[in-house]
Amino acid sequence: MGIIKPGTPWLDTNGKIIQAHGSGMLPMQENGKTVYYWYGEDKTDGYRPLVGVHAYKSTDLLNWEDCGVVLKAMDSMETFNEPYFQELYGHLNQEEKAAIFTDLHKHTAVLERPKVIYNAKNNNYVMWFHADGPTATSTANYAKAKAAVAVSDSPCGPFTLLGSYRLDHYGGEHYLHNPGMARDMTLFADDDAAYIIYSNEENYTLYISRLNDDYTMITSGGVESPGYAPVEGVDYARVFPMGHREAPALFKHKGKYYMVTSGCTGWRPNPALYAKADSILGEWTNMGDPCVDDVKRTTFDSQSTHVLPLDPDNGKYIYLGDRWVPDDLANSRYIWLPLAVNKDGSVTIEWVDEWQLQL
Ligand code: DGJ
Repeated sequence: MGIIKPGTPWLDTNGKIIQAHGSGMLPMQENGKTVYYWYGEDKTDGYRPLVGVHAYKSTDLLNWEDCGVVLKAMDSMETFNEPYFQELYGHLNQEEKAAIFTDLHKHTAVLERPKVIYNAKNNNYVMWFHADGPTATSTANYAKAKAAVAVSDSPCGPFTLLGSYRLDHYGGEHYLHNPGMARDMTLFADDDAAYIIYSNEENYTLYISRLNDDYTMITSGGVESPGYAPVEGVDYARVFPMGHREAPALFKHKGKYYMVTSGCTGWRPNPALYAKADSILGEWTNMGDPCVDDVKRTTFDSQSTHVLPLDPDNGKYIYLGDRWVPDDLANSRYIWLPLAVNKDGSVTIEWVDEWQLQL
C-alpha cells in the first residue's frame, strides 16, 4: 500500500526526481507478479537538448526503480561510433543512419509521448513515439509530424529505432496537401490486435490505425507506401473530425472502449473530453468532460497521457496526466487521480489531495 499525492515531486528509489513525462505504462506478468514499467520523456534538460525515453519499474506503483534511458538521443553523426550505438545501428549504411539521427538529434528533434506494448508473437517490446522537428521546408518544431517505432527484447531496453512515418489519410480534401500527420499519440493493445491513436490533420482530427502483427507499422503501410489504399473501418478510423483534440488515452472496460483526450492549447491545460465506442474502429460518441468539480475547467491543471487499470472489475482505473511547467519542464508534475467507470457506463475523474492505492 502506498500513498499517491498528485502534483507533488515524485522521487525514484534512488531519491532522484522521476523523469517520465507524457508517459505510458506497461503492466507485465513476471514470476506470478505484476511488474509495471513506466516510460516517458526525460526532460532533465528542459525542452532541449533531448535526453531520450526514460523507464522505471515497480510492483506497487509507488516505489519506482530506475531502468535508465532506454532510447537515447544523439549529439551528432559521430555518436554512431560509440559502442552503445554501434551495437544498435552498426549494420546500417550512412543514409539510414542519417534518418535515425534526424529523429534522435538532441538539438533539433522533438520526441514526445513514448508508449510501449508487448508483442507476444515476437516476444519483444515495441515503442512508438511522436517524432517531430523541422523539415527541409520548415524550421517549425512540429513540421515533421511523424510517428516513430523502436523495438527491444527487454522492457528496459536498449530500444533500436526502426524509423519514423507519416500514417493514414482518409483520402478526402481535408489536409490532403499534408497527409498522414501524427502528433500526440498513444498505443492500445486489444485482445486480437493493437492500434496507434494520434492527432492528424494538423491536430484537427484524431485517427486510430491498426498495427500489423509485429506492431512495427500500420496495416495500410501509411501514406508514403506504394499503392497506399487504406480501408476506413478496417485499417483506420477518424474520430471527432475537426474536433481539435490531442493527448489521447484509451482503455477498454467490459467490452466498451473509452478515450480521454485534451484540447489543443500547447502546454496550458484545458477541459478534458472523453468518448465511448462499442468497437474500436467504430462510431465514437462524445460523452463530455469526465472531471467532477473541476472548478477551473482545466482537468485539475493537467493533460491526459494514460489510463491504467487498478481494479477494473469494480470500474476502478487510474488517470495519469501531466501538469506541465512550460518554463521548467523538468519540474512538470504527475497528476494521478482515481478514474471510475460508473454503473451507468459514464466515466468520472475526481481530485484527491492524496489517496491510497490498493493493488
Ligand atoms: C501539447 C502536447 O500534448 C504536448 O505533448 C506537447 O506537444 C505540447 N503540446 C507542446 O506545446
